[in-house]
Amino acid sequence: MYAVCVFFFLSVSCNVIAGSPDCFAKIDTIIQETFRCKSKQIVGVSVAVVTSGKVILEKGYGVKDIETNDTVTADTLFGVASLSKAFASTLLVKLIEENTKYSLNTKVSTIFKNEGIFLDSLRSKYATVRDLLSHRLGIPGNNRIRLDNNLTRANVIHRLKYLQSKGSFRDSFFYNNLIYGVLTHIAELIGRESWEKLVKTHLFDPIGMNSSSFLTTADFEKIDLAKGYIDYYGNLKPVPFEFSRRWADLCGSGCILSSARDMAKWMKFYLDEGKLADDTRLISKEAFEDLTRPENVIATTYTSTYFTKPKVPVTTSNTGYALGWRTGHYRGYKMLEHSGTTFGYRALLSVFPDADIAIYTAMTGNDPSYLYRQSLHNVIFDIYMGYTPWLNSSTICSYPRPWLDAKVQSSKPRYSKGRNPTRQISDYHGIYKNHAYGNLEVKKHKDGNKLTVVYGFSNFVLYPKNKTDEFYGESIGTTAHIFNFYSFKFRFENKTVKLEIPNFESKDPPEFIRSAETNLTNKSCFLNVSNNVCFVLLYFAFSALLV
Ligand SMILES: *[C@@H]1O[C@H](CO)[C@@H](O)[C@H](O)[C@H]1NC(C)=O
Ligand SMILES: *[C@@H]1O[C@H](CO)[C@@H](O)[C@H](O)[C@H]1NC(C)=O
Ligand SMILES: *[C@@H]1O[C@H](CO)[C@@H](O)[C@H](O)[C@H]1NC(C)=O
Ligand SMILES: *[C@@H]1O[C@H](CO)[C@@H](O)[C@H](O)[C@H]1NC(C)=O
Ligand SMILES: *[C@@H]1O[C@H](CO)[C@@H](O)[C@H](O)[C@H]1NC(C)=O
Ligand SMILES: *[C@@H]1O[C@H](CO)[C@@H](O)[C@H](O)[C@H]1NC(C)=O
Ligand SMILES: *[C@@H]1O[C@H](CO)[C@@H](O)[C@H](O)[C@H]1NC(C)=O
Ligand SMILES: *[C@@H]1O[C@H](CO)[C@@H](O)[C@H](O)[C@H]1NC(C)=O
Ligand SMILES: *[C@@H]1O[C@H](CO)[C@@H](O)[C@H](O)[C@H]1NC(C)=O
Repeated sequence: MYAVCVFFFLSVSCNVIAGSPDCFAKIDTIIQETFRCKSKQIVGVSVAVVTSGKVILEKGYGVKDIETNDTVTADTLFGVASLSKAFASTLLVKLIEENTKYSLNTKVSTIFKNEGIFLDSLRSKYATVRDLLSHRLGIPGNNRIRLDNNLTRANVIHRLKYLQSKGSFRDSFFYNNLIYGVLTHIAELIGRESWEKLVKTHLFDPIGMNSSSFLTTADFEKIDLAKGYIDYYGNLKPVPFEFSRRWADLCGSGCILSSARDMAKWMKFYLDEGKLADDTRLISKEAFEDLTRPENVIATTYTSTYFTKPKVPVTTSNTGYALGWRTGHYRGYKMLEHSGTTFGYRALLSVFPDADIAIYTAMTGNDPSYLYRQSLHNVIFDIYMGYTPWLNSSTICSYPRPWLDAKVQSSKPRYSKGRNPTRQISDYHGIYKNHAYGNLEVKKHKDGNKLTVVYGFSNFVLYPKNKTDEFYGESIGTTAHIFNFYSFKFRFENKTVKLEIPNFESKDPPEFIRSAETNLTNKSCFLNVSNNVCFVLLYFAFSALLV
């Protein structure tokens, strides 16, 4: 095995004979070898490599499900997570081309006929579709709002005016999935169909991605889908499909399911700058340039931490953001790239327009800081272009060692399950509100003297920390193992109780407030019709009477 490997690494480029079994074999061997050393953290992998108009590799490795050991094939679907953003931008650019009313510079206020979308007038007045596509609003992700069961791609826009900006308008990079939810809805407004239907009609069908689907609409029983797995302190745990479906609701931010075979076609489409297999254009040259021209600068990325000189011998950069794509270079070659990470699924797609090669990887399991995906893409590029790969089958396994120290994986917090909170648990009970996030309920857990938190479709049990009014929240139910030991910090201020959850958004920790009006047990509220909670209760009381 070792000898074979050395032979492969020393041999010349397979560029000249792209598509030959030789090129396939070299890449296939390195994937198999590295997949073996990652078998404790990765369950399934799907890889596609396209060069010079040919697919040189489309293949599955590992299993779809640890219980059944069904093997992954080139047709097995994986969540591509944020690689969906390039579908969102491509669809929108195409719809805009076909609809003379709008351009990428159309103001969001015009589309929604609303002058007060954001907290400040600068963004409300001037933010355009292009600003939304390039993450340059300066508003932190607040990604956990997606747990709100009432959030939809149509109403997410109404949350934006409650979100503080932390970076300057058009002069900062703040990656934001909620904003891609807004873009999803904008496409629906222009195309007058669901985003899923529009993507199928305008992209999947013409490009020939005939088995790709969506987490939001797929029948999980009927499709060839890899089960998502996440790391729970060193053990892999399955992610329920039901969780993935609900979490993907904003769609353009990350709901696409695809296979190596279909993603190879998507990559060909990008290598051909927006042309289809029959050489006709799906989008114009100008639209393609719009999609791939950097509009924003990214100061720090995982590649700047782990993949740049002088820390390691070769630099991978992706310091620009175009529309649904990062832009950068590898070994001096221009590169379009996007990573995708969601609970259970991880992906990476790299397109090298000038080297005429594109590489896609999707996987289930754990790959912190993209170390495996990025190094695999580097090695595949090196083999194809005739470089001696700077990583070999053993360093890819130990990466970032020997060049850099590996990040220490966080360990489960130590807490005493028996510790009692400083106050009576009923003191914490109630409905807590936040304008952007909606309602969160704190109530007694069904067993014992414990508290439980319900926020949308997430659920946590609270364990008191050794600090007054602070708790660890362990996620349970549909969200079990997904949100590990978030901090819940209560503050009692006269009649008001505030609950801060820094893990919901570290750059701007949301605070949920329980005021007297939201105290359900305050019976006098039945007399106060302006109180929403009471209104709902009254509604049910009346409905009961009418039956
Ligand atoms: C699946 O494969 C693993 C590892 O090879 C093995 O331990 C396990 O028994 C297999 N399970 C089934 C259901 O075949
Ligand atoms: C999908 O397209 C491939 C060609 O890339 C073809 O072989 C396959 O039969 C098609 N599948 C369906 C379900 O149409
Ligand atoms: C891989 O590279 C490292 C250093 O770059 C070297 O020490 C090691 O012997 C190589 N291993 C193989 C299997 O080639
Ligand atoms: C409601 O408020 C009262 C007074 O502030 C407090 O004593 C009581 O514990 C609260 N009950 C709940 C369930 O929040
Ligand atoms: C969603 O709406 C229902 C009904 O109005 C409400 O009870 C629930 O608290 C809301 N969820 C969130 C997270 O705000
Ligand atoms: C809790 O913290 C206090 C002060 O920091 C310390 O004295 C005490 O030993 C801690 N108790 C436990 C159980 O950790
Ligand atoms: C609590 O109420 C007192 C008296 O009304 C007031 O002086 C104080 O500022 C309040 N504290 C907070 C944190 O609201
Ligand atoms: C109960 O609600 C009423 C009216 O909403 C309010 O005036 C009163 O202070 C509340 N009582 C308590 C104990 O919070
Ligand atoms: C009714 O509730 C509102 C807040 O929801 C409060 O401002 C008002 O004082 C309450 N009215 C009465 C009569 O308690």
